[in-house]
Amino acid sequence: MASKNRGNSVSLICFLFFEFHFVVITAQNTPVFACDIVKNSSMANLAFCDRSLDFKTRVDDLVKRLTLQEKIGCLVSGSQGSQRLGIPFYEWWSEALHGVSDVGVGTKFVSPVPGATSFPQVILTAASFNVTLFQTIGKVVSTEARAMHNVGLAGLTFWSPNVNIFRDPRWGRGQETPGEDPILSSKYGAAYVRGLQDRDDGDEVRLKVAACCKHYTAYDVDNWKGIERYIFNAQVSMQDLDDTFNPPFKSCVIDGNVASVMCSYNQVNGKPTCGDPYLLKGVIRGEWKLNGYIVSDCDSLDVIFYNQHFTKTPEETAALAIKSGLDLNCGSFLSKHAEDAVKKGLLEESFIDSAISNNFLTLMRLGFFDGDPRKQLYGELGPKDVCTDAHQELTREAARQGIVLLKNTPGSLPLSPTAIKSLAVIGPNADVDHTMLGNYEGKPCKYVKPLQGLTAAVATLHHPGCGNVACSSPLIDEAKKVAAAADAVVMVMGTDQSIERESLDRVNITLPGQQALLVSEVASVSRGPVILVIMSGGGMDVQFAKDNPKVTSILWVGFPGEKGGAALADVIFGCYNPSGRLPMTWYPQSYADKVAMTNMNMRPDPATGYPGRTYRFYTGPTIYEFGYGLSYSEFSHELVRAPQHVSFPLEEEHECHSSKCISLAVADQSCKNLAFDVHLKVTNVGKMGGSHTVFLFSSPPSVHNAPQKHLVGFEKVHLTAQAEGLVKFNVDVCKHLSMIDELGSRKVALGEHVLHVGNLKHSFNLNI
Ligand SMILES: *[C@@H]1O[C@H](CO)[C@@H](O)[C@H](O)[C@H]1NC(C)=O
Ligand SMILES: *[C@@H]1O[C@H](CO)[C@@H](O)[C@H](O)[C@H]1NC(C)=O
Ligand SMILES: *[C@@H]1O[C@H](CO)[C@@H](O)[C@H](O)[C@H]1NC(C)=O
Repeated sequence: MASKNRGNSVSLICFLFFEFHFVVITAQNTPVFACDIVKNSSMANLAFCDRSLDFKTRVDDLVKRLTLQEKIGCLVSGSQGSQRLGIPFYEWWSEALHGVSDVGVGTKFVSPVPGATSFPQVILTAASFNVTLFQTIGKVVSTEARAMHNVGLAGLTFWSPNVNIFRDPRWGRGQETPGEDPILSSKYGAAYVRGLQDRDDGDEVRLKVAACCKHYTAYDVDNWKGIERYIFNAQVSMQDLDDTFNPPFKSCVIDGNVASVMCSYNQVNGKPTCGDPYLLKGVIRGEWKLNGYIVSDCDSLDVIFYNQHFTKTPEETAALAIKSGLDLNCGSFLSKHAEDAVKKGLLEESFIDSAISNNFLTLMRLGFFDGDPRKQLYGELGPKDVCTDAHQELTREAARQGIVLLKNTPGSLPLSPTAIKSLAVIGPNADVDHTMLGNYEGKPCKYVKPLQGLTAAVATLHHPGCGNVACSSPLIDEAKKVAAAADAVVMVMGTDQSIERESLDRVNITLPGQQALLVSEVASVSRGPVILVIMSGGGMDVQFAKDNPKVTSILWVGFPGEKGGAALADVIFGCYNPSGRLPMTWYPQSYADKVAMTNMNMRPDPATGYPGRTYRFYTGPTIYEFGYGLSYSEFSHELVRAPQHVSFPLEEEHECHSSKCISLAVADQSCKNLAFDVHLKVTNVGKMGGSHTVFLFSSPPSVHNAPQKHLVGFEKVHLTAQAEGLVKFNVDVCKHLSMIDELGSRKVALGEHVLHVGNLKHSFNLNI
């Protein structure tokens, strides 16, 4: 998202936003809404304002009353409404990726709400592998959003979450996503959407706020060596589209009941996603049955015409997008060109009617046409409900649940706050605040920086080590002097948005500049433990630190949110036993040297030496694997129940009886309701209580270019020291063990499947 810029328009856009701030500051602190019968009692006679009627009747009534010009004004994110019908201007663009954000122009942080709770950037929250947490965060965010809406500072439609697959470690927006695995991304997306949208009164039609899953689809290149998302044509096989790129969107729509999907800037197989009737009308609305609206990225219609030159005229672009199934244009392209498209006979007005009907229906479900929101459910929420102590505690909790312990030499972590008399805190990210938020951030309530968090526990000595994260000329001697004087050293290194962000992919995946040199030099003179803390969105080649015995521990903290420093101290001093697991593979630099970021293939190609992507397909060396993460305790697994054989009850005349089938279509009748249980005993064999994520992976028979293994499910449990627990997975054969074949159909392979849990392996036969 964000404004696209051609050439040097960056500063211009910043200015525009700045001016907009002025406008809002002088506005009154009341929400926008339609059907204000207190102000104008004759509104009560309008059917679209009548709460006793069903939404469809109300929407139809409203659409019938609008002129073509008014309708077109409702196709864009700055929706004009209709003054004569008492429908105010509505700004659709608000964001809430990890807390209410002011990246979208529909949200402002000014008195009486100068900030909102800033949660960890999504990639770190995903590392918690705690679905309850994903949903709980969503719920807190929507409470703060409603509170801000009630005082006129936020909209009701939030263009979050980002569920694109983190396919390549260099992607600047990987930080916004739940990682590389389609199952984790699907669970994250559905849970976060439910947290945002679901109402406490159980009404499944009305919405607390409306979420949006973006950016559909196969969009994971921002700007890599000058190749920009605006012109990138992702060449994607049906197999990869259906088993890697689309599942999180499908889950958003089907499991999360999301109110919106956003199409991306890029093309997929030569067609812009926002102008592809197959992707929009066919899949999102047809197959998945989206109940809501499809919105473009900002302004991807402009991009289709001016950057991609995909269409001959702007009117043709407008017609293509709307006929493909687009309902709302972030930006202004349709307000300029849709009317001419109708006049030129390229677009029938009925298409516009159905687009705005989807938009209005969403607003109806949000209560926008029910009068003053302060008199509806959530009307009591206000500034007092933003940045509450409980919300700020939850962001700290989320960060500590996500932080991943990657290396820990015995005797290193946790540090004892009584034994450590002085702690050296070194590195360009040691004393940062804004960096902790990541992108799509808001204004936080109150920061706790790493240095602050650590200083609250023990006496510290601080040195930044480098001027900034680019670290071109580190102050090695000074940093060494500080380290040599301390009992232990914490080095907070990594990246910030100057290294990886929207519109900027990385080229190298090593620590930026001379950071590695600084770490090695400082470690060489340290007297005690040296804890390397990596603050970043993407994975890092830190092989040098993994191999260096003087670097005794490594922690990855993502971008940990406003309370990141407190959460880091909780983990370092053992107030919290780390339980995060990597939601993405950490590759060596050689991967970045060898693989073109633009190659979208998930599967390896032995003919070209292309190694494939993510733990499901990549077989080369890694720095740390997907799902890796240590604890201060140790956990053992024992298989209690799993099948030896599973067979399909096939009818006598089924074709697989006469000819040998290698797989069965999930669409097949016999594929319904075939399930089995896997029970595991998990024991905390260590001395400290803690949480532990049990991953159930499966390796299917190697037909149809199947993944070498894939996640079937995960379950996080808390166990006190020496305690044991039972973890149960109910495995639906056709849902959880299936894969997509070469042509894009979902199949279950027949033959030997191998289940993996930690080092445990169990094979069973799946046959007819
Ligand atoms: C009240 O609303 C009706 C219906 O939209 C409209 O015709 C009328 O002009 C409005 N009156 C005022 C005073 O705004
Ligand atoms: C990537 O690393 C190589 C080798 O260290 C270096 O020459 C190059 O400048 C780096 N590129 C970027 C964009 O940092
Ligand atoms: C998952 O997160 C919730 C919400 O923070 C928390 O109460 C629960 O203990 C977590 N589960 C585990 C197993 O850590």
